[in-house]
Amino acid sequence: NKMGSHVVSTARRRHAVCVPYPAQGHINPMLKVAKLLHAKGFHVTFVNTIYNHNRLLKSRGTNALDGFPSFRFESIPDGLPEADMDVTQDIPTLCESFTKNGLTPFKELLRQINSRDDVPPVSCIVSDGCMSFTLDAAEELGVPEVLFWTTSACGFLAYLHYHRFIEKGLSPLKDESYLTKEHLDTKIDWIPSMRNLRLKDIPSFIRTTDPKDIMLNFLVRETDRAKRAAAIILNTFDDLEHDVIQSIQSILPSVYSIGPLHLLVKQEIGEDSEIRQMGSNLWKEETECVDWLNTKSENSVVYVNFGSITVMTAKQLEEFAWGLAATGKEFLWVIRPDLVAGDVAMVPPEFLTETADRRMLANWCPQEKVLSHPAIGGFLTHSGWNSTLESLCGGVPMVCWPFFAEQQTNCKFCCDEWEVGIEIGGDVKREEVEAVVRELMDGEKGKKMREKAEEWRRLAEKATTEHERGSSVVNFEKLAKPYANPVMNPM
Ligand code: UDX
Repeated sequence: NKMGSHVVSTARRRHAVCVPYPAQGHINPMLKVAKLLHAKGFHVTFVNTIYNHNRLLKSRGTNALDGFPSFRFESIPDGLPEADMDVTQDIPTLCESFTKNGLTPFKELLRQINSRDDVPPVSCIVSDGCMSFTLDAAEELGVPEVLFWTTSACGFLAYLHYHRFIEKGLSPLKDESYLTKEHLDTKIDWIPSMRNLRLKDIPSFIRTTDPKDIMLNFLVRETDRAKRAAAIILNTFDDLEHDVIQSIQSILPSVYSIGPLHLLVKQEIGEDSEIRQMGSNLWKEETECVDWLNTKSENSVVYVNFGSITVMTAKQLEEFAWGLAATGKEFLWVIRPDLVAGDVAMVPPEFLTETADRRMLANWCPQEKVLSHPAIGGFLTHSGWNSTLESLCGGVPMVCWPFFAEQQTNCKFCCDEWEVGIEIGGDVKREEVEAVVRELMDGEKGKKMREKAEEWRRLAEKATTEHERGSSVVNFEKLAKPYANPVMNPM
């Protein structure tokens, strides 16, 4: 009967298809969004690239992506020629390939999903902001799409102004001679809510001399397309980036800050939940790091990790090594096998001997656990957004060595707005490493930064706490609760 079928169709589970950009710093937070949606009653399909799907099986075990009846993994090709080199680290090529080749296989996947009778029909798409081809598929299917920009709000706001830099003739740079310190110190005082910025603090892709630069043009295009989304979500919290979020709202009214996601996951999903425990590390985690930290006293260890994409020269690696050695501090240093561009990442053997009794080296670690460990007293970081948030939530102050993308903006905000960071020069010297790490761990400034980080940690906890009606809890409900007009209900 009519009534009966109506009841069945509205009671049907909503189904979110989550599409991360295929890099570690994007897959991790998207998996958290997917878990949170699942906890709100969504059926979830999580879409990796075939390449990363296979990498995850390798790093996490062959049953890592079996999923659950209501949480499934699928994969689509990235459109690149089949090769066994690590193309995932070539960001411009990957961005270009998805823009050109992503839509067809994605639409085909949606068609297949909707033709199955064992899963509810797709009712919304949650896509990385850098995968905006998915908007075309959502519009064709008539379902809302939420775009997830995995950057800081300050980084995202700067990207939203890329087109203005071009209009003002500030980008592309006329030639290499504009890469001088003086020019890079040019004041940028016309982005509402962003204070005391210089050209060097704007996300890196702006500092190109090539008008056809792939990333510059890609970001102009993706930020413009963001206007078509039903909502934008950000992994940040209102107290941390209040003014910047408001400034974004004047361009994109439906922006929701729902971070820090790893804290919201802890709050919303029980510790023994198998869904909560699903991981997304593309490298194999070395859990011995945590055992080692368990033997160390509070705030005594320097943690060094440059994330999943940063590369450096062999010389820079050596400078970091000798700088760290000279501090006399204990340290945990994660050196990805591909950290040195075009070479195997190797530290000097004398450095290994000299520091043998006070360090732990690893290829990859469970970073969230490490940064919330009481033994960690400071973090030498590339200022990736996930690392920055995880550090704040652990109450850990930072030495910032930004590499690319919006890391320069994150670094600027860490140092000047949030007062939890000291920047270290791009052309790294061992004496400088030694001096700033000493300041970080034992200095007056380090102490102040640690207190400040602790304040941010408390505010992050508050934003994600249910009984305090934290801002991120409330925002996530507006987005995803199954009643009262939430964004993610079928239109
Ligand atoms: C990049 C950019 O840095 C970042 O600014 C952008 O917003 C997203 O993409 P990445 O360079 O990899 O990411 O750094 P980061 O954002 O810090 O993400 C790395 C992730 O890998 C973090 O979630 C971190 O916890 C995890 N990680 C890293 C580990 O679990 N173990 C490690 O040893 C290193």
